[in-house]
Amino acid sequence: MPEPSPDLALTALTDWWGEMGVAADSDVMKAYARAQTVEKASSPKASVPLPRKAQDPEAAAADAKSVAAACTTMEELVKAITAFEGCPLKAGCQTTVVFDGAVGADIMVIGEGPGAEEDRTGKPFVGKAGQLLDRMLAAINLSREANTLITNVNYWRPPNNRNPEADELKVCRPFVDRMIEITAPKFIIAAGAVPAKALLGVSTGIMKLRGTEHEFNTPGGAEGRLFPILHPAFLLRRPQEKSRAWRDLQMIERRMGEFGIKLD
Ligand code: URA
Repeated sequence: MPEPSPDLALTALTDWWGEMGVAADSDVMKAYARAQTVEKASSPKASVPLPRKAQDPEAAAADAKSVAAACTTMEELVKAITAFEGCPLKAGCQTTVVFDGAVGADIMVIGEGPGAEEDRTGKPFVGKAGQLLDRMLAAINLSREANTLITNVNYWRPPNNRNPEADELKVCRPFVDRMIEITAPKFIIAAGAVPAKALLGVSTGIMKLRGTEHEFNTPGGAEGRLFPILHPAFLLRRPQEKSRAWRDLQMIERRMGEFGIKLD
């Protein structure tokens, strides 16, 4: 069997650790991300630019908060996020990936952040994992075309697809909360460990979080229910876990019925 490239192997390893509950801001994850970034930068073939020098994350998050609070429509919010310069990840990206799907839908899916395909096209979840996500949603009559809005907890692709770091998530968070306030979904499906833990503010691993239901509130007063599920990229690597994902989707479908959520 051919050996995977070191990049792919490292990404798979750190993704796997993330899915198993190793925090994105843990020393081991940071050390691996640093090693990978340094190796890329010093390679003559390096194709992913290094992020520019980080702005103070506290100041950037405060900026994001006031910019987000001033937005009252999705159009304004998309413009504000796209124009925002406070996240150092932006410098290494082709696009800002904000959302796709039905604005005002009762269901919102929130993933981790753009990968290569998403960065190229400007749309969330359009690569292989995104195609699996579309099939998972279709199994319970959800689709981005009709009744679901899809976004991420981070709008810019991290170098080498590493997990977004805590500071990067913090800077994006006011925009995530504002999008929830503007579009008012009844259910939020957190796809994967990174969004589930970030949105709930917990460090519990995804294997414990999946299949559970949570109350969710934003600082601006939006309320909803939140359901963590396994990330489709994880399911592509571990297809034997698909039965768990299927059970979780069925639970969400049952709860939609109990909440009287009517799908278009
Ligand atoms: N994975 C995510 O979490 N989000 C995307 O947009 C694409 C892949």
